[in-house]
Amino acid sequence: MPIQQPLPREYLQLDAQELGDRITAARKRLGDELVVLGHHYQRDEVIRHADFRGDSLKLARLASQRGQARYIVFCGVHFMAESADILSQPHQQVILPNLTAGCSMADMADIYQVEECWEQLAAVTSRRILPVTYINSAASLKAFVGRNRGAVCTSSNARPVLEWALSQGDKVLFFPDQHLGRNTALGMGHTLDEMLLWDPEEPFGGHTAQAIEAAQFLLWKGHCSVHARFTVDQIAQAREQFPGIRVIVHPECSMEVVQAADDSGSTERIIQQVTRSEPGSKWAIGTEINLVSRLAHEQPGKTIFCLDPIVCPCSTMYRIHPAYLLWVLDNLLEGRVVNHIQVPGEVASWAKRALDRMLEIC
Ligand code: 13P
Ligand code: SF4
Repeated sequence: MPIQQPLPREYLQLDAQELGDRITAARKRLGDELVVLGHHYQRDEVIRHADFRGDSLKLARLASQRGQARYIVFCGVHFMAESADILSQPHQQVILPNLTAGCSMADMADIYQVEECWEQLAAVTSRRILPVTYINSAASLKAFVGRNRGAVCTSSNARPVLEWALSQGDKVLFFPDQHLGRNTALGMGHTLDEMLLWDPEEPFGGHTAQAIEAAQFLLWKGHCSVHARFTVDQIAQAREQFPGIRVIVHPECSMEVVQAADDSGSTERIIQQVTRSEPGSKWAIGTEINLVSRLAHEQPGKTIFCLDPIVCPCSTMYRIHPAYLLWVLDNLLEGRVVNHIQVPGEVASWAKRALDRMLEIC
């Protein structure tokens, strides 16, 4: 994880109003030179300053399309800013307001583990394996996938990407989120006995050569701790308390939770489904609390709540505090780029292949 320098003291002393006013003024002065992108999990005090909000796919597309802006300030987590850097143009610079905003799931697979897994697979099977990485992964993993003819996917396009991967090879190695892989493969009509959970801590993922040979999906043993909190019991309680309620969850939730829900999808899809529903509808949502609270606030005629009664913020998304946003903007006004996210050339060019393949498939 890159080192974040401490914020100068003056930023810590500003109240919410001062921070908001100064961010608005700085954005105005920077004009078209700047675009601020915000992921749906960002807190209200940050997201209100975003020119565009979105899920990972929408934000990756936006990063590749805002060529007029010299600076892309990314209010999200590290892997998202890396993807924006890879997809943006050479004259653009991507800035992450707080360098410690990572993703614990992305950290569950590193390039050394993935390369070791690849070598072990090559030793026990001669079948053609396509690697697919969830966008929640480091650029080095995306580059690995690009070099090995695979693709990136997001929660909104995992199905077409996995279908494409199976049209190119015999098996898929999917990392780092086992749940997105499993839920998507089940949705495509595959069965659990076609899937193996690859434990990077075990030799050969914990399996025999025969089991590896027989499997069609090798799912990396990674997960999101925010989405791991949602349970089938919570869904049952919501249904009991609010008859007729609809339950929608993110596909990073477990298979049992996704199957007990009425619908699942990316953050953008969750927002769309709830927004399009008729006034008076009731929704229990299984995803991060900032998104859910904002929906509830913006659509007061509906009953909208988070499935988990104990609030479940993504602690790393939360590290983007307005004080950090103001600090990076003030530096831009003084001609300094701080917290520049720059993926090294060779890694970036292979990772771009994997991201471009995703954008072509979808
Ligand atoms: P989305 O692409 O659905 O926004 O998901 C990103 C993420 O990190 C969910 O935990
Ligand atoms: Fe990563 Fe989970 Fe946070 Fe999404 S919610 S950014 S997967 S830790």
